[in-house]
Amino acid sequence: MLLKNQSAQEKLIWKLLKQKVTAERGSLLAIVRQTLKLKKKIKAIAAKTSEPFYLFDVKSLIASIKDFQSSFGKYKFDQQPYYAVKSNHYPEILKIAVRQGMGLDVSSGRELEMALDCKAKKIIFSGPGKSESELKLAIKNRARVIIQIDSFRELEKIAALLGRGEKIRAGIRIYTPLHGSWSKFGIALDDLARFWQAAKKYPQIELQGIQCHMSLNLEVQPYQEIIRILGKYLKIHFSKSDLAQIKFIDLGGGFYPTALDGYYPWAEPQGEIIKLAAEYFDKRLDFFDKYFIFKTPTSSQYAESIFQAINLHLKPIVKSSYFFEPGRIISAKSMHLVMRVADVKSSGNVILNAGNNMVGWEYYTTYYFPVINLTHPALKEIEVAMYGNLCMPEDFWGHYCYAQKMTENDLIIIPNQGAYTYAWAQDFIKPIPKVYKLI
Ligand SMILES: Cc1ncc(COP(=O)(O)O)c(C=O)c1O
Repeated sequence: MLLKNQSAQEKLIWKLLKQKVTAERGSLLAIVRQTLKLKKKIKAIAAKTSEPFYLFDVKSLIASIKDFQSSFGKYKFDQQPYYAVKSNHYPEILKIAVRQGMGLDVSSGRELEMALDCKAKKIIFSGPGKSESELKLAIKNRARVIIQIDSFRELEKIAALLGRGEKIRAGIRIYTPLHGSWSKFGIALDDLARFWQAAKKYPQIELQGIQCHMSLNLEVQPYQEIIRILGKYLKIHFSKSDLAQIKFIDLGGGFYPTALDGYYPWAEPQGEIIKLAAEYFDKRLDFFDKYFIFKTPTSSQYAESIFQAINLHLKPIVKSSYFFEPGRIISAKSMHLVMRVADVKSSGNVILNAGNNMVGWEYYTTYYFPVINLTHPALKEIEVAMYGNLCMPEDFWGHYCYAQKMTENDLIIIPNQGAYTYAWAQDFIKPIPKVYKLI
């Protein structure tokens, strides 16, 4: 017993177990069909190497950028998307994003160097605890960089680093009550007016905007709510001249690509308890559903709800541009993981020749992605535990494969793995694989 009161503990567990699971059911067969159309091309590239690799998909990247731009661009507001470099910093991706008219959102001196190298003209630099050398680099390139200040102290630091006559454009990052315990980034919304006044001491810092980012918004509500809360705050706490000073409102990223992936039943809180109990008592698990799918809003749906909220809560009080910092919704389809079957231990247990170091963490024990056998393809999944080749038990790729069968050396692809994988790859046990381009 962990709680002081056993019946309270039992009630709590029962209450959770009885909660209805409202997750989205379905399959991602459309992705399989689309990937199989590229089978010949992928096989030709894979013939060049026996190693696993990232397959860079230029067409899909451009299609994702265009989809985002056209969905948001429909609304007649001055706006600018900044691609979040952290989601995938592969230089070709940055170059294409810039060529397609995006700015770049960077979070370190290293990312800032990359953005400068690929000639980005519009760069946003945000992040907590920026170092002196990072701030100096931003100041040096201030014609292209807007700095998103993270704290009162950082305001002073930037002011102290600016030389005589030097000016830099800046915003202030805030967090709202909606951010829960995420107080690591920026200042509390409640302190915004005080910050705005404090910044007046430093005319060399041209404070022009407000940034607010929230991750993994599987629905539109967080954006709408943040816009409502911010509008209400500005109306109460900002004077007319302070409001006139706001040139941009940056709503960050957090847009989740729809119907690309899912999760296993044990990622639901109820499922997690059941899995733990079954493992503890050494019982076999037989979940009703194989997996659930992330059916999130499309770019158009995100855009529609965001601009609806802006029209209602911000447009009447501020004349500002709107910035967005999409990461995963742009990069997810830009890379696929390609590997081979290294060892068939039994029909339900195979080792692939790539390890989770390729993606940085053991994501695939909880999250589901379609895995496709390109040598023996099928439009139905077979149940097969696919492990990676690292000497680590959690190194795992999936429970199901679209395959007729699994034999040694079969070519395997996990499509749409461009977000937070290549960027997180670890130099751990095995080397980080190379990138090949799909043409
Ligand atoms: C400040 C900021 N902007 C944008 C992003 C991109 O988020 P996403 O990839 O979910 O769109 C992040 C990611 O955490 C972030 O921290």
